[in-house]
Amino acid sequence: MSEQSGRILAEMGITPAWRLRDAARVETSSPEPAPEVLATVEATPAISLTRAGDEISVIVEPASLLPAEPLLEPASAMPAAQAPSGVACMDWPALSEAVSACRACTLCERRKQAVLGVGDVQADWLFVGEGPGADEDERGEPFVGQAGKLLDAMLAAIQLKRGENVYIANAVKCRPPGNRTPEANEIEACRPFLERQIALIRPKLIVALGRPAAQTLIGGEVKIGAARGRLFSYLDVPVIVSYHPAYLLRNLEDKARAWEDLCFAQDQMRRLLTA
Ligand code: URA
Repeated sequence: MSEQSGRILAEMGITPAWRLRDAARVETSSPEPAPEVLATVEATPAISLTRAGDEISVIVEPASLLPAEPLLEPASAMPAAQAPSGVACMDWPALSEAVSACRACTLCERRKQAVLGVGDVQADWLFVGEGPGADEDERGEPFVGQAGKLLDAMLAAIQLKRGENVYIANAVKCRPPGNRTPEANEIEACRPFLERQIALIRPKLIVALGRPAAQTLIGGEVKIGAARGRLFSYLDVPVIVSYHPAYLLRNLEDKARAWEDLCFAQDQMRRLLTA
């Protein structure tokens, strides 16, 4: 481990040093039950028996013949959004203008400015947070406060840097008052913007930071502890889930798990790049 990596992990609050693993799965020390999705693919052939009259057939699903590839879990059905119209066809300048002018939900009433996102618009990596806080509302850029400093350190821990092959966005583009969690209807109103960002960037992997981002991308009720270490998909892009940096600032004991998630993400990205 280099001196710089050591400093980064110390910044993340993780000691002693952790090393990246080669294995596709990261075993976690989470107290919650271990995810079983990959094990299903590895261990259970999808074999079915069918009978038509007296004839019995054995069908082996092609997927069961594959080696332990990550399984993409489909997102649950999403409720329809009250979209500002035409977002799905917008280019970046039009999208930026539409987000700035958006009045689709009441979050617009108290924002200083809407915060579209920041970074490389052709990035392989997309990190999605919850919504702007006071610092972001002030500066017009996601994750620039304390949580943002930790996010930058987390990125550095896997040799990534804001703006270089990385794009950072939020589930909602306007600050929820008092930094409350965005409501479902606010997330839905903003969804077309995030969807358009994903369509324009075409990232190889999305990392959902925290529950609201995970629920936005995966659908349904998500528990971070149970969703970690699994591969989901949103608009055909693989999604993984980890803790929100602001949560990690308050729950230092979960930083080691966040580090495991970053290693898992890095491992998945390697696989995606070589697939
Ligand atoms: N928290 C988030 O989820 N997003 C930000 O941009 C800042 C803090």
